[in-house]
Amino acid sequence: MADPQSRAGARYADEKLLAWTADVHAPHDRALERAFTSPGREGMPPISVGPNEGRTLQLLLRLAGARRVIEIGTLAGYSTIWMARALPADGHLWTLERDPRHAEVARGNLEAAGLADRVTVVVGDAVEELASLEGHGPFCAVFVDADKERYDRYGAWAADNLRPGGLLIGDNAYFFGRLLGDEAGAVAMRGFHEATPATFDSVCMPTPDGLLVGIRR
Ligand SMILES: C[S@@+](CC[C@H](N)C(=O)[O-])C[C@H]1O[C@@H](n2cnc3c(N)ncnc32)[C@H](O)[C@@H]1O
Repeated sequence: MADPQSRAGARYADEKLLAWTADVHAPHDRALERAFTSPGREGMPPISVGPNEGRTLQLLLRLAGARRVIEIGTLAGYSTIWMARALPADGHLWTLERDPRHAEVARGNLEAAGLADRVTVVVGDAVEELASLEGHGPFCAVFVDADKERYDRYGAWAADNLRPGGLLIGDNAYFFGRLLGDEAGAVAMRGFHEATPATFDSVCMPTPDGLLVGIRR
């Protein structure tokens, strides 16, 4: 009989265990290490996804055969590198970042990773910039990792701009453990969750802060 606690895997996964599994399944090469450590060197917040989530993004995109991808929230380009490496030679990823300094650091990291021609870093507010990218769609995947107060809007945009079979992926889907609270970010994140099943087959994967994954019907 299954251990009832196994339904809550997070109880088993402490930092040491997560680091060990990341070393085995998601090791950093020079480019990933450079992007992951950039925030510390550049005075940026250390809020990239972890190696396990980066590798998960890459494998999900490969499973979906993704060619055209949108990322909302670039920071230093760490998750961008994981995802861009999943694309075929003629694939493209557009990543949106409102902070020009973050975008500049990300461009340097993407250049160092040899991915400058496969990725466009779009500087500006995602809500405005997404409209200008619609002509490149329909897209194969949309990864949301920016302002939590607007996840519901980003989810709606993804529903309108993903191809059938395309992926919606949202990080911080537990809203740092405060998903069921009253903050604006919690309300928007719940809206993001609640709207998804109408147009996606979806799940909230129990990563440390939750990863919503949906397949567009
Ligand atoms: C959590 S970080 C992204 C981390 C990155 N995806 C990774 O894992 O390497 C969020 C980024 O989104 C940017 N951001 C927040 N709100 C935004 C918006 N409305 N439009 C564009 N970028 C935004 C922030 O400046 C920050 O760099």
